[in-house]
Amino acid sequence: MELLTLSNGVLMPALGIGTFLMTPDQAEEAVCQALQCGYPMVDTANAYRNEKAVGRGIRKSGVPRDKIFLVSKLWPTVYTAPDAVDRTLERLGTDYLDLLFIHQPAGDFLAGYQQLEAALQAGKVRSIGISNLKGEKLDRLLAACAVKPHVIQMEAHPYCTQKEIKSILAPYGTVTMAWYPLGHGDKALLQEPVFAALGEKYCKTPAQIILRWHIQMGHAVIPGSTNPDHIRDNAALFDFALTDQDMADIAQLDRDVRYYNPTPETEENYASFAPDFDSQP
Ligand SMILES: NC(=O)c1ccc[n+]([C@@H]2O[C@H](COP(=O)([O-])OP(=O)(O)OC[C@H]3O[C@@H](n4cnc5c(N)ncnc54)[C@H](OP(=O)(O)O)[C@@H]3O)[C@@H](O)[C@H]2O)c1
Repeated sequence: MELLTLSNGVLMPALGIGTFLMTPDQAEEAVCQALQCGYPMVDTANAYRNEKAVGRGIRKSGVPRDKIFLVSKLWPTVYTAPDAVDRTLERLGTDYLDLLFIHQPAGDFLAGYQQLEAALQAGKVRSIGISNLKGEKLDRLLAACAVKPHVIQMEAHPYCTQKEIKSILAPYGTVTMAWYPLGHGDKALLQEPVFAALGEKYCKTPAQIILRWHIQMGHAVIPGSTNPDHIRDNAALFDFALTDQDMADIAQLDRDVRYYNPTPETEENYASFAPDFDSQP
């Protein structure tokens, strides 16, 4: 398994299971299976309302907590709640997180990030990050923060490599974790001829070629799946390598196309979207 070194020296695995849009039962099952077949990382969020189930999946897997890189995200409605981190830990049934993000650039996101910095200082989290920040809000955060983000979680896939944000963050050594690494399962992406051709060359599926491309781009990936075959296949990325020419062929697909295009209003509305994170099975 490949590891990425964060700017504070913490080693982060390059592969994890994503749990966005999973019901609690699905998340428990997917996390348990993923850990049992060798995934070392799990990504969840307050807003997914499956943190308790993720905690159960971890315990059910039998994999010791210290062998798992556990990631969650604070939602904007708790950016100023002093117990936001503690309640996240409680729901997951753990006493520390390996990485905690602020999920959205909404509300008082600077206060949310300060909570992460305080949690880092208190030893409740081992590393901290930002998600979905860009433009002026990213500039404001970088100017205000005491600890530069160790990781940014953002949409990235072969149609969208996020060159601009990566270059802004490069001086700080911020590592990219790609969400929608498979384009949220978009058939147009998975069926691009270049992935079929490379799949044939390496005896891999198009999804495995895409995920391997991420790894070689230096991204951590957190593909989401509730399909046991996909969960197993998505972990088989470390027994082959794409050549420079393969990478250049895939680079032809980069066209700055995103699947998620929030308006500033949509984004700001997250600050008043307040699900009850504790009422989940
Ligand atoms: N920070 C943020 O704002 C944010 C936003 C979105 C997502 N995320 C995180 O990123 C993770 C990944 O995003 P995502 O799950 O939405 O999208 P994704 O990983 O790009 O794609 C998931 C889709 O691809 C399918 N799939 C998975 N493996 C496959 C394979 N080997 N072959 C064919 N299809 C496959 C899945 O269907 P099956 O279930 O049938 O396999 C599912 O429909 C999330 O789970 C979440 O943890 C973060």
